[in-house]
Amino acid sequence: MTGAIGTSTARVDGIAKVTGTARYAYEHPFTDPVYLYPVQATITRGKIDTFHASAAEEVDGVLAVLSPWNAPRLADISDPELTLLQGPEVKFRGQIIGAVIATTPEIARYAQSLVEVGYAEEEHDTVLRTDHPDRYPEDDPQTIGDDVDQALSDAEIVIDQQYSTPEEHNTPMEPHTSVARWHAEEQHLTLTTATQGPHSVVDTLAPLLGLEPQQLRVVSPHVGGGFGSKAAPHAHDVLAALGAMAVPGRSVKYAITRQQGFVFVGYRSPTQQHLRLGARADGTLTAIDHESFSQVSPVGSFSENASSISASMYAADSRRLVHHLVPLDVPPPHWMRAPGEAPGMFALEVAMDELAVAAGVDPVELRLRNDPPRDPATGNRWTSRRLVDCLHEGARQFGWQDRDPRPGVRRDGEWLVGTGMASATYPHVMMPGTKATIRHNGAGRYTVRTGAADIGTGAWTTLTLISADALGISPDRVTMEIGDSSLPTATVAGGSSGTSSWGSAIVAAAEMFRRQHGEDPDAGAQTTGGVSEDPLAEGYTAASFGAHFVEVRVHPGTGEVRVPRMRGVFSIGRVINPRTVRSQLLGGMVMGVSMALHERSVRDPRFGHVVTQDLASYHVPVHADIEDMDASWLDDSDELATPMGSRGAGEIGIVGSAAAIANAVYHATGLRLRHLPLTPAVLL
Ligand code: MOS
Repeated sequence: MTGAIGTSTARVDGIAKVTGTARYAYEHPFTDPVYLYPVQATITRGKIDTFHASAAEEVDGVLAVLSPWNAPRLADISDPELTLLQGPEVKFRGQIIGAVIATTPEIARYAQSLVEVGYAEEEHDTVLRTDHPDRYPEDDPQTIGDDVDQALSDAEIVIDQQYSTPEEHNTPMEPHTSVARWHAEEQHLTLTTATQGPHSVVDTLAPLLGLEPQQLRVVSPHVGGGFGSKAAPHAHDVLAALGAMAVPGRSVKYAITRQQGFVFVGYRSPTQQHLRLGARADGTLTAIDHESFSQVSPVGSFSENASSISASMYAADSRRLVHHLVPLDVPPPHWMRAPGEAPGMFALEVAMDELAVAAGVDPVELRLRNDPPRDPATGNRWTSRRLVDCLHEGARQFGWQDRDPRPGVRRDGEWLVGTGMASATYPHVMMPGTKATIRHNGAGRYTVRTGAADIGTGAWTTLTLISADALGISPDRVTMEIGDSSLPTATVAGGSSGTSSWGSAIVAAAEMFRRQHGEDPDAGAQTTGGVSEDPLAEGYTAASFGAHFVEVRVHPGTGEVRVPRMRGVFSIGRVINPRTVRSQLLGGMVMGVSMALHERSVRDPRFGHVVTQDLASYHVPVHADIEDMDASWLDDSDELATPMGSRGAGEIGIVGSAAAIANAVYHATGLRLRHLPLTPAVLL
């Protein structure tokens, strides 16, 4: 160990990024580029009758017009989201039903407008309702312990409320782009795309396109955010690939518009949630009944399971968790930062605040009283559960002690002032399957290669530090290579699993390298190693924990909510790079402010599309909305979770933060708000 881990290190790709030389997918130099623009369905459900492309084809500069009738056939149509241009069915508004490829993006876009499409339109439904006749439970209810209805009827205090979170879109700074080139002679496709996992794109798209994995290379060295939306290939990747096969030897470039980013690259489903908490008079929980609903697309199965968060969070002898899916004529929802956990924790932590008020117990004390010594869902031991320490440290940093619990009684000038808190958790996920290659270049310099992705999180730097410690050298002697499927296999940057999964593989590969090549290796000495199993021992549950503390101001005249102060304290195991981890945690907390106060995709039920499809109408916080915010962490190491002692930190910042704000708004105003976002309209 050289002590590289734990040092606050500037991003190794930082200079390239701020000087504009870091290449994002669309910006690589491509020979013979041509440009693609899609034709999108203007109905929400039905069939295409007619597709007249001749006017588009006659435009100077148009090379090809793809339709469901002439597009290359896909070899595998088992994934309906990616089964593009294979038939006339329209399943959601904005679905890709064709494409124009032309010599300039302007010509492609113009020519697309000349395609005449006729439809046989059917009725559609895009409204999430808990009484929807077609709803169905995702799984049988998960029941733990004694009968929950009996426990609720025996409880001295019952909280029984409905909560909801809106549809939200990931909207990363770099919109999704995909550039595809088909080398007909070699029968090889290169796809340069913004992705959270180059190998997962190969694994998904190669069979679809009828290719062997070695016939498809995915290149993605720099990615401008994803928040889950780039965790799997979406329709635009397939479209670029089909386009490339239609014009072999040309680089087919497709950058989605911001509006298209609100259609076919995934989003967070709205949720409806019904929570019933039963407790003794002192606030100790006896029953948790969490029922949730999200929407599912006809072309996808992704489920925003909000109730599962209640399985492990607090002690209670009885619980029942069930999540229902409501099939609607909508595009496929997909991962968005802490899918399931973020909306589920909003409901659970607001309900806990309601229980604190009902029991007359301080909200921090209530959580301390309900901290489970073992994982309630499984009876497992925790590798490390330090929620209690996060609560104590957060309360200390924030100055929570002597808080007056009465709501609506503090003012600062015209503003009502309140404070609130919530717990946070996110499961520790380590995905086996990553390999890393270690090569000694001579003179004590090493290259470490693995197909990991840095989506803005700092993976380039974090993996450099892990490599340096694993090899016993200083970080400036390590050259990292990531972001390309031609590198050794790596798992996806998803589920807060990146550092855990890739780092464990690098540690294993470095150990193997030293065994094979000794302490004084030759130049050119090389070893590939990795991990094929999660090292977590049977009988253990690993998760990260945290606590959010928030001060809000609410203006009674305008309904505006400000968040002047926010503290998050987390237990995330050993911190590899304090600088980038802090940025990750703060980013999650900012996203919590966004979730609490701003974000909402408004889907028009008449037309089935999202009308707030740009960053003027889809609101996120600006700098002025984020005031005194800080994130810190406990001195920690969890060697049962990973050999580095680290656990996931990418998503926990958003979990619980919106609830802490809603709880502070209650404390400021006396208004208990259970439906996000908390816009001025609902506060007036
Ligand atoms: Mo994250 S939503 O698992 O990319």
